[in-house]
Amino acid sequence: MKTEPFSFMINSPGFIPSYFDNHIKRHLSDMKGQFNNKEAFQEVLEAGDKLLYEVYELKRPEIEGEILHGISIVHPGKIGEEYYMTKGHFHTVLETAEIYYTLQGEGMMVMETPEGDWAVEELKTGGVLYVPPRWAHRSINVHSDQDLVMFFAYPGNAGHDYGTIETQGFRKLVLSKSGKPQIVDNPHWKPPEK
Ligand code: F6R
Ligand code: ZN
Repeated sequence: MKTEPFSFMINSPGFIPSYFDNHIKRHLSDMKGQFNNKEAFQEVLEAGDKLLYEVYELKRPEIEGEILHGISIVHPGKIGEEYYMTKGHFHTVLETAEIYYTLQGEGMMVMETPEGDWAVEELKTGGVLYVPPRWAHRSINVHSDQDLVMFFAYPGNAGHDYGTIETQGFRKLVLSKSGKPQIVDNPHWKPPEK
């Protein structure tokens, strides 16, 4: 980790940062229980543990005042009608926001709050998305053959709560219907336990 000011490049094609500390790879097997169509999930998994998305992180101290940042790359593909997507999470410190800048591709960010609000925003090249504090977020690649590449930045002390989404799911899914992304209710969504 650097202690002096630093710069790095994010260039197309590829968009792999010229400097990073950590490269996370998430495969289909890491997403058990997250896709709507369980049979399709099992079938695709048996054919091979596909790489769904990757994250290049620049590490910073995980404290207030720092900004964690990096690149996320969601590959194109579907499990049944559901597009490849990230796990999705709340920040452990709920009152922390995040900002995304789409460098390439087409996608959707599905978001929701513990209070029951939900939102879906389009992600397209050149677009900036602001995820306010309290909103869980999941990125979805809706393009048939192009990576969805985004730069992200969020507070150092945010932390990640994956468990809530793993248990409840998101209220909304984005499915491919007649070749177009459509927002639908998640039939497997579980209300939060009181
Ligand atoms: C960090 C953040 C992104 C995601 C990345 C992968 O708070 O929201 O950097 O970490 O898009 O998604 P997850 O973390 O949900 O696997
Ligand atoms: Zn986040």
